[in-house]
Amino acid sequence: MNTEKVQIFDTTLRDGEQSPGASMNTEEKLEIARQLVRLGVDVIEAGFPISSPGDFESVSRIGTEVGDACVVCGLSRAIPEDIEVAADALKTSKRPRIHTGIGVSDNHLEYKLRISRDEALERAEAAVKLARGYVEDVEFYAEDAGRADPEFLYRMIEIAIKAGATVVNIPDTTGYAYPEKFGALIAGLMENVDGIEDVTVSVHCHNDLGMATANALAGVAAGARQIECTINGIGERAGNTALEEVVMALRQRQDVFGVETNINSREITRASRLVSGITGIVVQPNKAIVGANAFAHSSGIHQDGVLKERSTYEIIDPQDVGVGGSSIVLTARSGRHALRHRLEELGFEFADEQFDDVYAAFLDLADRKKEVYDEDLEALVGERERTLEEVYHLERVQVVCGEPGIPTATVELVDAESRHLVDSGHGTGPVDAVYRAINRIVEVPNDLIEFSVKSVTRGIDAQGEVTIRVRADDGRVFTGRGAHTDIIVASAKAYVNALNRLLVEVKQAVSEEL
Ligand code: KIV
Ligand code: ZN
Repeated sequence: MNTEKVQIFDTTLRDGEQSPGASMNTEEKLEIARQLVRLGVDVIEAGFPISSPGDFESVSRIGTEVGDACVVCGLSRAIPEDIEVAADALKTSKRPRIHTGIGVSDNHLEYKLRISRDEALERAEAAVKLARGYVEDVEFYAEDAGRADPEFLYRMIEIAIKAGATVVNIPDTTGYAYPEKFGALIAGLMENVDGIEDVTVSVHCHNDLGMATANALAGVAAGARQIECTINGIGERAGNTALEEVVMALRQRQDVFGVETNINSREITRASRLVSGITGIVVQPNKAIVGANAFAHSSGIHQDGVLKERSTYEIIDPQDVGVGGSSIVLTARSGRHALRHRLEELGFEFADEQFDDVYAAFLDLADRKKEVYDEDLEALVGERERTLEEVYHLERVQVVCGEPGIPTATVELVDAESRHLVDSGHGTGPVDAVYRAINRIVEVPNDLIEFSVKSVTRGIDAQGEVTIRVRADDGRVFTGRGAHTDIIVASAKAYVNALNRLLVEVKQAVSEEL
């Protein structure tokens, strides 16, 4: 007998991108989308097309690129123009879905939408009908269902189904529910809504009280067959249900849930690293499944147990989520073939001319660092792949620091017209001095609001990866990253990367205005 499937609806590129400072450009979204396809998600929610030209472009390009590998979904409110723009963004998609909906809780109706219950029902019905005029697959969301009157929720969902919805999404938008209550809400829908057996019931849980995963699983136990989630659980406020958590819970506890997903769990770690690298949102070390400590055993008793028999203290084989899969270590003596092979195993493919550059960068790294690990390759390739239009390129950085002394830096940048610009600065420390020197050249107002450095791998010669966030004058936040065996160079690269993003956005905004 076939085990029933639960569809995995990934919203990293939409709800996940709503995490403060996590905005991604289209190339970065495409890179994540490719990894989501390798992971085997059923649906990619690629953006909210009416919200910005960038979101429109991402939905459209992802829709084209993934072909029929999975459904590509665009979000809209229950507003005709939103739905029309979403349909337009999805027109090149082989398997398009419009996700439309409206608030259902009295709180949202009274304070946000300022409409009556009847008006909300009318708008829900009209939105689904309009969306069905464009695509066969329409998902309806009843926003803030977790705080709604269940009887009214049943009515709204029944109307959406009659209007043609193929999937009905029950979001706990504010993360207010708890598993018993949320499971009962889904069970109530299954019992009380006409036509519910003909559609897929979806759960979309937020993590404000730390119960998003538990609530989503309670929904599945009560009959939901789609989970909306994000890689690393990123998302609005405290985030969404984490994909890796629900997938591994359903897999490890099939005895309880009796369902399975289409996810290739061995791709989880790579997806997690990619999303963290691109968004700059660091994964907490003790995060379930993907945290750095998720499979680390510290106490002597535990270490002894695991050495005798892994299952004494581990319920998941780390290899099942893609941890520690390869023992290949590349060095400066590794040839082009070995590098290309390893990169392909990691999912990176390059045309010959691009590969020449990658190989040169690899040799440069291998000269500074004896052994090059998968994480180093991911940092190296990721940095190159994600180098958006470079308004400025870091050519050279040099610092003098120590105690006593005045930390001083000299920086050389090359601009888009190949001019070499040199300036110096001094500051409270070498990084501050470097940033001041860069600011004297770039002259774009910004505040540095976050700076973090982590080691890409272990060892004294490991690369440092710097992630920073800067806030522009208009309040928008831009993330920058840089990796190097010298953390001052990594810091300079990260800052130039963030400023490039800021400048590219400013340029785009100006050209859209013209
Ligand atoms: O949390 C929420 O309610 C949402 C909807 C737009 C589905 O993200
Ligand atoms: Zn949400």
